[in-house]
Amino acid sequence: MTAIAGHRSKAHGPPPPDQPGFFAAASPRRRLRAAALRRMSSGAAVELPFQWIVEQSLAAIYVIQDDVYTYVNPTFLAMLGRSADEVIGRGPEAIARPDEAARIRENVRRRIDGEILKLRYVVELLHRDGRTVSMEVDGARVEVGGRPAVVGIGLDVSERLGHQRELEHSRQRLQELTAYINTLREAQRAKFARELHDELGGMLSSLKMDIGRLTRRTRSPAMLGVLGEMDGVAREAIDIVRRVADDLRPAVLDHLGLLAAIRGRLEQFQRRYGVKCILEPEELELPLPQSHANNIYRICQEALTNVGRHARARTLSVHLAWDGAVFVLTIDDDGVGFAATVPRPGAMGLLGMGERARELGGTLEFLPRRPRGTRLVLRVPLAAP
Ligand SMILES: Nc1ncnc2c1ncn2[C@@H]1O[C@H](COP(=O)(O)OP(=O)(O)OP(=O)(O)O)[C@@H](O)[C@H]1O
Ligand SMILES: [Mg+2]
Repeated sequence: MTAIAGHRSKAHGPPPPDQPGFFAAASPRRRLRAAALRRMSSGAAVELPFQWIVEQSLAAIYVIQDDVYTYVNPTFLAMLGRSADEVIGRGPEAIARPDEAARIRENVRRRIDGEILKLRYVVELLHRDGRTVSMEVDGARVEVGGRPAVVGIGLDVSERLGHQRELEHSRQRLQELTAYINTLREAQRAKFARELHDELGGMLSSLKMDIGRLTRRTRSPAMLGVLGEMDGVAREAIDIVRRVADDLRPAVLDHLGLLAAIRGRLEQFQRRYGVKCILEPEELELPLPQSHANNIYRICQEALTNVGRHARARTLSVHLAWDGAVFVLTIDDDGVGFAATVPRPGAMGLLGMGERARELGGTLEFLPRRPRGTRLVLRVPLAAP
């Protein structure tokens, strides 16, 4: 019994600081800490070695008064590889390009004039060895010797900004590469589709005509049977060639435009998946550049494939419209919704759609629908018809 009670009181430990009894049980070190906390929270002045703190600070510290640096700490000088002589009593021109110096002066003026009290921005300064140092400064208006000045703190953010720029650059290169690959792929698809249609389709058609010629010349029932079968196979092969060529590059997209191509795709989708498809409106002026029509069509194609594969929808509706100078494509399904599916690792469809939207300078969103289903909204800014 006793052992258990003792164990319990040990496990609970001393009461937390906000409970009565805390200070009573405190050690001398705790008493000191409590006193320091009390002093700080009461706002009473604490004696601090300010000079030492400023000199040893890991951040650059500076004072600008009457348009010249009147104080900079050793860290400031070290960041720029300069001596005090090169900075003190001089204006920002001593350590910055003329355009940057003008910006620093203007920002100092705004704070001195009381336009703003405090300002944080990145300024490009010049290291003595010629390289640029990006310093993020945060300065405020103060009174020094009864006159206004700006005192600020600076951090060397060159490395961080360098990484950011590199990242931005490689992101941009990646987007350019994706756009290039898309264009290349589109051109190749068009070429394959043409060759398939013209060459293979042409050969199969002439084969079919030969079968017809032979059929007309023979009277043998056995031969007629074989020729009939051959004719069926040739017809099927021609259909397959047409379908594959159309999948690769719908001729209708080139000849009749985006709306007709989407309509054709929806008819095919309805037949294949038994999903009721609605296209609105029946007619719409779509003066889109060919590359835009291609990308929008491919986004639509992938969206349909996804609905067929994942959504288990009964109805699908595609709506095209102009919102001022923005072309808007909305695809609604009444399927299970994204939340009910498990994304396949390494899936590329949504990624590709997003890249195409970005290539068009547009946005792509997927939204859940109530009570069920998914809405895709593609917005592409273009000149209105
Ligand atoms: N209309 C939809 N309804 C419900 N879930 C969807 C729908 N569209 C996409 N998804 C979900 O999003 C995931 C990612 O789609 P994505 O198109 O990127 O890949 P995928 O279709 O699985 O493969 P693929 O790379 O061949 O396109 C899908 O695996 C599915 O879980
Ligand atoms: Mg997909």
